[in-house]
Amino acid sequence: MPPSVPKISIDQLIAIVVTGGRVRTGIDIFNRQGTLLLEKDVLVSEAKTLEKIKRLGVVDLPIVASNAGGLWDKDGKQIRLPAPESIPSPAKRPPTAITSEVDRRIEEICELKEIACQKYEHAKQCIKEVLSSIQQNGGKFDFEMISDTVTGLFEFVSKHENAFSYLTREIFSYDNYLYNHSINVCTIGTVIMRKFNDNFNAAVNSFLNSGISSNINDTKMDENSFSYFQPDEMIDISIGFFMHDMGKILVDKEIMNKPGKLTPEEFEVIKSHSTEKGLQLLEKNNLINPYLANISLYHHSRLYRDEPNCYPLTKNQNEIQPYVKVCKLADIYDAMTSKRCYKEALNPVAVVTEIFHKYAEKDPLLQYILHSFVKSVGIYPPGSIVALTNGQLAYVLDSQGPILLPVTDCQGATLAAKPDMLVIDKGETSDGLKVDRRKPAISPLEAYKILPDYLLKTIQAPAA
Ligand SMILES: [Fe+2]
Ligand SMILES: [Fe+2]
Repeated sequence: MPPSVPKISIDQLIAIVVTGGRVRTGIDIFNRQGTLLLEKDVLVSEAKTLEKIKRLGVVDLPIVASNAGGLWDKDGKQIRLPAPESIPSPAKRPPTAITSEVDRRIEEICELKEIACQKYEHAKQCIKEVLSSIQQNGGKFDFEMISDTVTGLFEFVSKHENAFSYLTREIFSYDNYLYNHSINVCTIGTVIMRKFNDNFNAAVNSFLNSGISSNINDTKMDENSFSYFQPDEMIDISIGFFMHDMGKILVDKEIMNKPGKLTPEEFEVIKSHSTEKGLQLLEKNNLINPYLANISLYHHSRLYRDEPNCYPLTKNQNEIQPYVKVCKLADIYDAMTSKRCYKEALNPVAVVTEIFHKYAEKDPLLQYILHSFVKSVGIYPPGSIVALTNGQLAYVLDSQGPILLPVTDCQGATLAAKPDMLVIDKGETSDGLKVDRRKPAISPLEAYKILPDYLLKTIQAPAA
Protein backbone atom coordinates (compact mmCIF):
# COMPACT_ATOMS: atom_id res chain seq x y z
CA MET A 1 0.00 0.00 0.00
CA PRO A 2 1.39 3.45 -0.80
CA PRO A 3 2.62 5.30 2.32
CA SER A 4 0.32 8.27 1.63
CA VAL A 5 -2.86 6.31 2.26
CA PRO A 6 -4.42 7.51 5.50
CA LYS A 7 -5.40 4.95 8.08
CA ILE A 8 -8.36 5.74 10.26
CA SER A 9 -8.87 4.09 13.60
CA ILE A 10 -11.72 1.61 13.59
CA ASP A 11 -13.29 3.42 16.56
CA GLN A 12 -13.42 6.66 14.55
CA LEU A 13 -15.03 4.82 11.67
CA ILE A 14 -17.61 3.23 13.96
CA ALA A 15 -18.40 6.70 15.34
CA ILE A 16 -19.02 7.98 11.78
CA VAL A 17 -21.36 5.11 10.96
CA VAL A 18 -23.21 5.27 14.27
CA THR A 19 -24.10 8.90 13.55
CA GLY A 20 -25.61 7.95 10.18
CA GLY A 21 -22.51 8.28 8.00
CA ARG A 22 -20.97 5.87 5.51
CA VAL A 23 -17.52 4.38 5.00
CA ARG A 24 -15.92 2.77 1.97
CA THR A 25 -12.29 1.65 2.14
CA GLY A 26 -11.53 1.56 -1.61
CA ILE A 27 -9.10 -1.25 -0.87
CA ASP A 28 -9.70 -4.89 0.08
CA ILE A 29 -8.94 -5.52 3.74
CA PHE A 30 -7.33 -8.84 4.60
CA ASN A 31 -6.38 -10.43 7.91
CA ARG A 32 -2.95 -11.85 8.66
CA GLN A 33 -3.93 -15.21 7.19
CA GLY A 34 -4.84 -13.53 3.92
CA THR A 35 -8.60 -13.90 4.39
CA LEU A 36 -10.67 -11.07 2.97
CA LEU A 37 -12.41 -9.19 5.79
CA LEU A 38 -13.96 -6.30 3.93
CA GLU A 39 -14.34 -5.73 0.22
CA LYS A 40 -13.05 -2.50 -1.26
CA ASP A 41 -16.36 -1.47 -2.83
CA VAL A 42 -18.70 -2.24 0.06
CA LEU A 43 -20.36 0.91 1.38
CA VAL A 44 -20.49 0.29 5.12
CA SER A 45 -23.50 1.82 6.80
CA GLU A 46 -23.86 -0.39 9.85
CA ALA A 47 -21.61 -0.34 12.87
CA LYS A 48 -21.91 -4.09 13.34
CA THR A 49 -19.83 -4.68 10.18
CA LEU A 50 -16.96 -2.63 11.61
CA GLU A 51 -17.43 -4.00 15.11
CA LYS A 52 -17.01 -7.53 13.78
CA ILE A 53 -13.76 -6.54 12.09
CA LYS A 54 -12.63 -4.84 15.28
CA ARG A 55 -13.33 -8.03 17.23
CA LEU A 56 -10.95 -9.82 14.86
CA GLY A 57 -8.14 -7.58 16.12
CA VAL A 58 -8.09 -4.89 13.41
CA VAL A 59 -7.34 -1.47 14.92
CA ASP A 60 -7.42 0.78 11.87
CA LEU A 61 -8.41 0.73 8.21
CA PRO A 62 -6.83 2.43 5.20
CA ILE A 63 -9.14 4.63 3.14
CA VAL A 64 -8.09 4.95 -0.50
CA ALA A 65 -9.85 8.01 -1.89
CA SER A 66 -8.38 7.49 -5.37
CA ASN A 67 -10.24 4.19 -5.58
CA ALA A 68 -13.73 5.48 -4.68
CA GLY A 69 -13.00 5.05 -0.99
CA GLY A 70 -14.06 7.73 1.44
CA LEU A 71 -16.06 8.82 4.46
CA TRP A 72 -19.47 10.49 4.31
CA ASP A 73 -21.56 12.08 7.03
CA LYS A 74 -25.26 11.51 7.63
CA ASP A 75 -26.19 14.05 4.95
CA GLY A 76 -24.02 12.33 2.35
CA LYS A 77 -21.39 15.08 2.54
CA GLN A 78 -17.86 13.85 2.08
CA ILE A 79 -15.73 14.06 5.23
CA ARG A 80 -12.23 15.27 4.46
CA LEU A 81 -9.68 12.59 5.06
CA PRO A 82 -6.98 13.66 7.48
CA ALA A 83 -3.41 13.74 6.23
CA PRO A 84 -1.69 10.44 6.90
CA GLU A 85 0.86 11.83 9.33
CA SER A 86 -1.76 13.56 11.46
CA ILE A 87 -3.36 10.31 12.43
CA PRO A 88 -1.90 8.75 15.50
CA SER A 89 -1.09 5.19 14.69
CA PRO A 90 -2.58 3.06 17.42
CA ALA A 91 -0.43 0.31 18.77
CA LYS A 92 -0.93 -2.89 16.88
CA ARG A 93 -2.58 -5.67 18.76
CA PRO A 94 -0.22 -8.62 19.05
CA PRO A 95 -1.25 -11.58 16.93
CA THR A 96 -3.68 -13.78 18.77
CA ALA A 97 -1.90 -16.71 20.30
CA ILE A 98 -3.17 -19.78 18.56
CA THR A 99 -2.57 -22.63 20.91
CA SER A 100 -3.78 -25.55 18.89
CA GLU A 101 -4.94 -26.79 15.54
CA VAL A 102 -8.50 -26.82 16.93
CA ASP A 103 -8.23 -23.13 17.89
CA ARG A 104 -6.78 -22.30 14.49
CA ARG A 105 -9.65 -24.00 12.70
CA ILE A 106 -12.26 -22.36 14.92
CA GLU A 107 -10.72 -18.94 14.31
CA GLU A 108 -10.71 -19.62 10.57
CA ILE A 109 -14.37 -20.63 10.66
CA CYS A 110 -15.28 -17.46 12.60
CA GLU A 111 -13.47 -15.22 10.13
CA LEU A 112 -15.00 -16.95 7.15
CA LYS A 113 -18.44 -16.72 8.70
CA GLU A 114 -18.02 -12.96 9.21
CA ILE A 115 -17.09 -12.44 5.58
CA ALA A 116 -19.88 -14.73 4.42
CA CYS A 117 -22.29 -12.60 6.49
CA GLN A 118 -21.04 -9.41 4.81
CA LYS A 119 -21.30 -10.95 1.36
CA TYR A 120 -24.75 -12.20 2.17
CA GLU A 121 -25.94 -8.79 3.39
CA HIS A 122 -24.47 -7.11 0.32
CA ALA A 123 -26.24 -9.57 -2.01
CA LYS A 124 -29.49 -9.16 -0.05
CA GLN A 125 -29.31 -5.41 -0.47
CA CYS A 126 -28.81 -5.92 -4.21
CA ILE A 127 -31.81 -8.20 -4.71
CA LYS A 128 -33.93 -5.96 -2.48
CA GLU A 129 -33.11 -2.91 -4.63
CA VAL A 130 -33.67 -4.85 -7.85
CA LEU A 131 -37.07 -6.15 -6.76
CA SER A 132 -38.23 -2.76 -5.53
CA SER A 133 -37.04 -1.19 -8.78
CA ILE A 134 -39.08 -3.76 -10.73
CA GLN A 135 -42.17 -2.75 -8.78
CA GLN A 136 -41.57 0.97 -9.07
CA ASN A 137 -40.21 1.21 -12.61
CA GLY A 138 -42.58 -1.04 -14.52
CA GLY A 139 -40.24 -4.05 -14.52
CA LYS A 140 -36.97 -2.22 -15.19
CA PHE A 141 -33.95 -3.00 -13.02
CA ASP A 142 -30.20 -2.50 -12.84
CA PHE A 143 -28.69 -5.63 -14.35
CA GLU A 144 -25.12 -4.38 -13.83
CA MET A 145 -25.69 -4.42 -10.09
CA ILE A 146 -26.80 -8.07 -10.26
CA SER A 147 -23.89 -8.99 -12.48
CA ASP A 148 -21.34 -7.36 -10.12
CA THR A 149 -22.90 -8.91 -7.03
CA VAL A 150 -23.03 -12.40 -8.51
CA THR A 151 -19.46 -12.13 -9.81
CA GLY A 152 -18.40 -11.33 -6.22
CA LEU A 153 -20.35 -14.31 -4.86
CA PHE A 154 -18.93 -16.53 -7.61
CA GLU A 155 -15.35 -15.60 -6.72
CA PHE A 156 -16.00 -16.08 -3.01
CA VAL A 157 -17.62 -19.52 -3.27
CA SER A 158 -14.94 -20.58 -5.74
CA LYS A 159 -12.39 -20.08 -2.95
CA HIS A 160 -14.55 -21.10 0.02
CA GLU A 161 -17.24 -23.42 -1.19
CA ASN A 162 -18.68 -24.21 2.22
CA ALA A 163 -18.60 -20.70 3.66
CA PHE A 164 -22.35 -20.16 3.56
CA SER A 165 -23.17 -23.39 5.36
CA TYR A 166 -22.52 -21.62 8.68
CA LEU A 167 -25.36 -19.15 8.09
CA THR A 168 -28.86 -19.91 9.26
CA ARG A 169 -31.76 -20.50 6.96
CA GLU A 170 -34.36 -19.18 9.34
CA ILE A 171 -36.73 -17.02 7.33
CA PHE A 172 -40.14 -15.85 8.36
CA SER A 173 -41.39 -13.35 5.84
CA TYR A 174 -42.03 -13.91 2.17
CA ASP A 175 -39.93 -10.93 1.08
CA ASN A 176 -36.97 -12.11 3.09
CA TYR A 177 -37.49 -15.59 1.77
CA LEU A 178 -37.15 -14.43 -1.80
CA TYR A 179 -33.95 -12.49 -1.00
CA ASN A 180 -32.38 -15.37 0.88
CA HIS A 181 -33.58 -18.04 -1.51
CA SER A 182 -32.09 -16.20 -4.51
CA ILE A 183 -28.69 -15.98 -2.82
CA ASN A 184 -28.80 -19.56 -1.53
CA VAL A 185 -29.73 -21.05 -4.89
CA CYS A 186 -27.01 -18.93 -6.51
CA THR A 187 -24.27 -20.01 -4.09
CA ILE A 188 -25.28 -23.67 -3.76
CA GLY A 189 -25.91 -23.93 -7.51
CA THR A 190 -22.56 -22.29 -8.30
CA VAL A 191 -20.65 -24.74 -6.13
CA ILE A 192 -22.45 -27.72 -7.71
CA MET A 193 -21.96 -26.34 -11.21
CA ARG A 194 -18.23 -25.82 -10.71
CA LYS A 195 -17.84 -29.35 -9.44
CA PHE A 196 -19.96 -30.75 -12.25
CA ASN A 197 -18.01 -28.84 -14.90
CA ASP A 198 -14.60 -29.81 -13.43
CA ASN A 199 -15.56 -33.50 -13.12
CA PHE A 200 -17.11 -33.63 -16.54
CA ASN A 201 -14.11 -31.94 -18.17
CA ALA A 202 -11.68 -34.22 -16.36
CA ALA A 203 -13.57 -37.32 -17.49
CA VAL A 204 -13.77 -36.19 -21.12
CA ASN A 205 -10.11 -35.07 -21.18
CA SER A 206 -8.93 -38.31 -19.68
CA PHE A 207 -10.86 -40.21 -22.34
CA LEU A 208 -9.53 -38.01 -25.16
CA ASN A 209 -5.96 -38.07 -23.90
CA SER A 210 -5.91 -41.81 -23.39
CA GLY A 211 -6.57 -42.03 -27.13
CA ILE A 212 -3.59 -39.76 -27.79
CA SER A 213 -1.17 -41.77 -25.66
CA SER A 214 -1.93 -44.89 -27.65
CA ASN A 215 -1.23 -43.09 -30.90
CA ILE A 216 0.77 -45.52 -33.00
CA ASN A 217 3.17 -42.81 -34.23
CA ASP A 218 4.05 -42.16 -30.58
CA THR A 219 4.54 -38.49 -31.37
CA LYS A 220 4.14 -35.99 -28.56
CA MET A 221 0.91 -34.13 -29.03
CA ASP A 222 -0.68 -31.37 -27.02
CA GLU A 223 -3.07 -32.72 -24.45
CA ASN A 224 -6.71 -32.14 -25.20
CA SER A 225 -8.37 -29.63 -23.00
CA PHE A 226 -12.09 -29.97 -23.28
CA SER A 227 -14.26 -27.52 -21.39
CA TYR A 228 -18.02 -28.03 -21.22
CA PHE A 229 -18.77 -24.53 -19.91
CA GLN A 230 -16.35 -21.62 -20.32
CA PRO A 231 -15.68 -19.18 -17.42
CA ASP A 232 -17.98 -16.47 -18.83
CA GLU A 233 -20.75 -19.04 -19.33
CA MET A 234 -20.29 -20.17 -15.71
CA ILE A 235 -20.84 -16.58 -14.51
CA ASP A 236 -23.96 -16.26 -16.70
CA ILE A 237 -25.28 -19.50 -15.21
CA SER A 238 -24.69 -18.18 -11.68
CA ILE A 239 -26.54 -14.98 -12.57
CA GLY A 240 -29.35 -17.18 -13.87
CA PHE A 241 -29.45 -19.00 -10.51
CA PHE A 242 -29.60 -15.66 -8.68
CA MET A 243 -32.49 -14.49 -10.88
CA HIS A 244 -34.33 -17.81 -11.25
CA ASP A 245 -37.39 -16.80 -9.17
CA MET A 246 -37.50 -13.08 -9.91
CA GLY A 247 -40.81 -13.54 -11.69
CA LYS A 248 -42.32 -14.16 -8.25
CA ILE A 249 -42.26 -10.44 -7.55
CA LEU A 250 -44.99 -10.06 -10.20
CA VAL A 251 -47.19 -12.77 -8.65
CA ASP A 252 -49.99 -12.04 -6.17
CA LYS A 253 -48.35 -11.87 -2.75
CA GLU A 254 -51.27 -13.42 -0.93
CA ILE A 255 -51.05 -16.53 -3.06
CA MET A 256 -47.26 -16.64 -2.80
CA ASN A 257 -47.53 -16.45 0.99
CA LYS A 258 -50.36 -18.93 1.41
CA PRO A 259 -49.08 -21.57 3.80
CA GLY A 260 -51.81 -24.15 3.20
CA LYS A 261 -52.79 -26.21 0.19
CA LEU A 262 -53.26 -24.28 -3.05
CA THR A 263 -56.33 -24.55 -5.23
CA PRO A 264 -55.66 -25.59 -8.87
CA GLU A 265 -56.25 -21.95 -9.91
CA GLU A 266 -53.79 -20.67 -7.32
CA PHE A 267 -51.20 -23.21 -8.45
CA GLU A 268 -51.57 -21.90 -12.02
CA VAL A 269 -50.84 -18.40 -10.72
CA ILE A 270 -47.72 -19.62 -8.90
CA LYS A 271 -46.53 -21.45 -12.01
CA SER A 272 -46.63 -18.22 -13.99
CA HIS A 273 -43.54 -16.93 -12.09
CA SER A 274 -41.45 -19.23 -14.27
CA THR A 275 -43.64 -19.90 -17.31
CA GLU A 276 -44.35 -16.20 -18.04
CA LYS A 277 -43.22 -13.54 -15.58
CA GLY A 278 -39.51 -14.37 -15.42
CA LEU A 279 -39.16 -14.16 -19.19
CA GLN A 280 -41.24 -10.98 -19.31
CA LEU A 281 -38.75 -9.34 -16.95
CA LEU A 282 -35.78 -10.47 -19.03
CA GLU A 283 -37.41 -9.15 -22.20
CA LYS A 284 -38.35 -5.87 -20.55
CA ASN A 285 -34.67 -5.32 -19.76
CA ASN A 286 -33.42 -6.53 -23.15
CA LEU A 287 -31.56 -9.40 -21.57
CA ILE A 288 -31.23 -11.85 -24.40
CA ASN A 289 -29.23 -14.55 -22.76
CA PRO A 290 -30.09 -18.25 -23.19
CA TYR A 291 -28.72 -19.18 -19.75
CA LEU A 292 -30.95 -16.71 -17.92
CA ALA A 293 -33.97 -17.59 -20.05
CA ASN A 294 -33.58 -21.38 -19.77
CA ILE A 295 -33.09 -21.26 -16.01
CA SER A 296 -36.02 -18.93 -15.50
CA LEU A 297 -38.37 -20.96 -17.70
CA TYR A 298 -37.40 -24.55 -16.92
CA HIS A 299 -36.24 -24.65 -13.30
CA HIS A 300 -39.40 -26.56 -12.30
CA SER A 301 -39.35 -28.99 -15.21
CA ARG A 302 -38.77 -32.72 -15.09
CA LEU A 303 -35.44 -34.22 -14.06
CA TYR A 304 -36.60 -37.69 -15.09
CA ARG A 305 -39.36 -39.11 -17.23
CA ASP A 306 -42.83 -38.80 -15.70
CA GLU A 307 -41.64 -36.88 -12.62
CA PRO A 308 -44.87 -35.52 -11.12
CA ASN A 309 -45.76 -31.87 -10.32
CA CYS A 310 -43.35 -30.37 -12.84
CA TYR A 311 -43.89 -27.54 -15.29
CA PRO A 312 -43.74 -26.56 -18.07
CA LEU A 313 -43.87 -29.89 -19.91
CA THR A 314 -42.89 -28.44 -23.27
CA LYS A 315 -39.49 -30.19 -23.21
CA ASN A 316 -38.66 -33.70 -22.14
CA GLN A 317 -35.98 -34.27 -19.50
CA ASN A 318 -33.27 -35.00 -22.06
CA GLU A 319 -33.69 -31.58 -23.60
CA ILE A 320 -33.22 -29.75 -20.32
CA GLN A 321 -29.71 -28.29 -19.96
CA PRO A 322 -27.58 -29.64 -17.09
CA TYR A 323 -27.28 -26.18 -15.48
CA VAL A 324 -31.08 -25.96 -15.33
CA LYS A 325 -31.12 -29.34 -13.55
CA VAL A 326 -28.51 -28.03 -11.11
CA CYS A 327 -30.76 -25.03 -10.43
CA LYS A 328 -33.67 -27.32 -9.67
CA LEU A 329 -31.62 -29.42 -7.22
CA ALA A 330 -30.27 -26.30 -5.46
CA ASP A 331 -33.83 -24.94 -5.34
CA ILE A 332 -35.23 -28.08 -3.72
CA TYR A 333 -32.31 -28.33 -1.30
CA ASP A 334 -32.70 -24.72 -0.16
CA ALA A 335 -36.49 -24.94 0.20
CA MET A 336 -36.18 -28.09 2.31
CA THR A 337 -33.36 -26.87 4.55
CA SER A 338 -34.90 -23.42 5.22
CA LYS A 339 -37.13 -22.78 8.18
CA ARG A 340 -40.29 -20.91 7.24
CA CYS A 341 -43.04 -19.52 9.41
CA TYR A 342 -45.16 -22.56 8.55
CA LYS A 343 -42.56 -25.32 8.48
CA GLU A 344 -39.45 -26.51 10.26
CA ALA A 345 -36.11 -26.68 8.47
CA LEU A 346 -35.12 -30.21 7.58
CA ASN A 347 -31.73 -31.53 8.45
CA PRO A 348 -29.26 -30.87 5.57
CA VAL A 349 -27.74 -34.34 5.77
CA ALA A 350 -31.18 -35.97 5.61
CA VAL A 351 -32.13 -33.68 2.71
CA VAL A 352 -29.03 -34.57 0.66
CA THR A 353 -29.75 -38.26 1.22
CA GLU A 354 -33.42 -37.88 0.32
CA ILE A 355 -32.70 -35.93 -2.88
CA PHE A 356 -30.00 -38.42 -3.87
CA HIS A 357 -32.31 -41.42 -3.44
CA LYS A 358 -35.18 -39.70 -5.19
CA TYR A 359 -33.17 -38.97 -8.33
CA ALA A 360 -30.51 -41.71 -8.34
CA GLU A 361 -30.31 -44.01 -11.34
CA LYS A 362 -32.84 -42.07 -13.37
CA ASP A 363 -30.46 -41.15 -16.19
CA PRO A 364 -26.68 -41.01 -16.69
CA LEU A 365 -26.23 -37.23 -16.88
CA LEU A 366 -28.44 -36.66 -13.86
CA GLN A 367 -26.31 -39.22 -12.04
CA TYR A 368 -23.26 -37.12 -12.79
CA ILE A 369 -24.98 -33.98 -11.53
CA LEU A 370 -26.15 -35.76 -8.37
CA HIS A 371 -22.63 -36.83 -7.52
CA SER A 372 -21.47 -33.23 -7.89
CA PHE A 373 -24.40 -32.17 -5.70
CA VAL A 374 -23.53 -34.63 -2.92
CA LYS A 375 -19.85 -33.70 -3.05
CA SER A 376 -20.62 -29.96 -3.03
CA VAL A 377 -23.21 -29.76 -0.33
CA GLY A 378 -21.21 -32.37 1.55
CA ILE A 379 -22.53 -35.34 3.42
CA TYR A 380 -21.52 -33.47 6.56
CA PRO A 381 -21.64 -29.71 5.99
CA PRO A 382 -19.18 -27.75 8.18
CA GLY A 383 -20.90 -26.42 11.26
CA SER A 384 -23.37 -29.30 11.44
CA ILE A 385 -23.54 -31.73 14.34
CA VAL A 386 -23.32 -35.48 13.90
CA ALA A 387 -23.80 -38.41 16.27
CA LEU A 388 -20.97 -40.90 16.76
CA THR A 389 -21.37 -44.64 17.29
CA ASN A 390 -20.40 -44.30 20.98
CA GLY A 391 -23.27 -41.85 21.62
CA GLN A 392 -21.17 -38.64 21.56
CA LEU A 393 -22.21 -35.67 19.45
CA ALA A 394 -19.54 -33.96 17.36
CA TYR A 395 -19.23 -30.63 15.52
CA VAL A 396 -18.08 -30.82 11.89
CA LEU A 397 -14.94 -28.69 11.51
CA ASP A 398 -14.29 -29.79 7.94
CA SER A 399 -16.45 -31.83 5.62
CA GLN A 400 -13.32 -33.32 4.03
CA GLY A 401 -12.61 -36.44 6.07
CA PRO A 402 -14.75 -35.36 7.85
CA ILE A 403 -12.81 -33.73 10.68
CA LEU A 404 -14.91 -33.61 13.83
CA LEU A 405 -14.76 -32.09 17.28
CA PRO A 406 -16.64 -34.03 19.97
CA VAL A 407 -18.89 -31.68 21.95
CA THR A 408 -20.63 -34.04 24.37
CA ASP A 409 -19.77 -37.16 26.31
CA CYS A 410 -21.41 -40.50 25.52
CA GLN A 411 -24.43 -39.51 27.65
CA GLY A 412 -24.98 -36.26 25.77
CA ALA A 413 -23.58 -33.88 28.42
CA THR A 414 -21.53 -30.97 27.05
CA LEU A 415 -17.79 -31.50 27.47
CA ALA A 416 -16.18 -28.92 29.72
CA ALA A 417 -12.70 -29.18 28.22
CA LYS A 418 -11.80 -28.67 24.60
CA PRO A 419 -11.11 -32.12 23.14
CA ASP A 420 -8.77 -33.17 20.35
CA MET A 421 -10.06 -33.35 16.78
CA LEU A 422 -11.22 -36.64 15.37
CA VAL A 423 -10.25 -37.37 11.82
CA ILE A 424 -12.51 -39.85 10.10
CA ASP A 425 -10.50 -41.62 7.46
CA LYS A 426 -12.22 -44.10 5.15
CA GLY A 427 -15.28 -44.12 7.38
CA GLU A 428 -13.71 -44.44 10.83
CA THR A 429 -11.18 -43.01 13.28
CA SER A 430 -8.00 -44.84 14.21
CA ASP A 431 -9.96 -46.15 17.25
CA GLY A 432 -12.74 -47.53 15.07
CA LEU A 433 -15.23 -44.76 15.94
CA LYS A 434 -17.69 -43.92 13.16
CA VAL A 435 -20.42 -41.44 12.42
CA ASP A 436 -23.69 -43.06 13.42
CA ARG A 437 -25.57 -42.74 10.17
CA ARG A 438 -28.79 -44.15 11.62
CA LYS A 439 -29.12 -41.06 13.79
CA PRO A 440 -29.98 -37.89 11.92
CA ALA A 441 -27.49 -35.08 12.39
CA ILE A 442 -28.83 -32.08 14.23
CA SER A 443 -28.35 -28.56 12.96
CA PRO A 444 -26.27 -26.00 14.90
CA LEU A 445 -29.47 -24.14 15.71
CA GLU A 446 -31.02 -27.18 17.32
CA ALA A 447 -27.72 -27.86 18.99
CA TYR A 448 -27.32 -24.31 20.30
CA LYS A 449 -28.05 -25.44 23.85
CA ILE A 450 -25.48 -28.20 23.90
CA LEU A 451 -22.58 -26.48 22.12
CA PRO A 452 -19.69 -25.33 24.32
CA ASP A 453 -19.11 -21.56 24.47
CA TYR A 454 -16.05 -21.58 22.20
CA LEU A 455 -18.15 -22.97 19.34
CA LEU A 456 -21.21 -20.74 19.81
CA LYS A 457 -19.38 -17.91 18.06
CA THR A 458 -19.14 -20.03 14.91
CA ILE A 459 -22.89 -20.20 14.43
CA GLN A 460 -25.64 -17.62 14.44
CA ALA A 461 -27.83 -17.45 17.48
CA PRO A 462 -31.38 -18.68 16.88
CA ALA A 463 -33.86 -15.87 16.26
CA ALA A 464 -35.70 -14.84 19.41
FE1 LIG B 1 -39.35 -21.13 -8.96
FE1 LIG C 1 -36.82 -21.16 -6.35
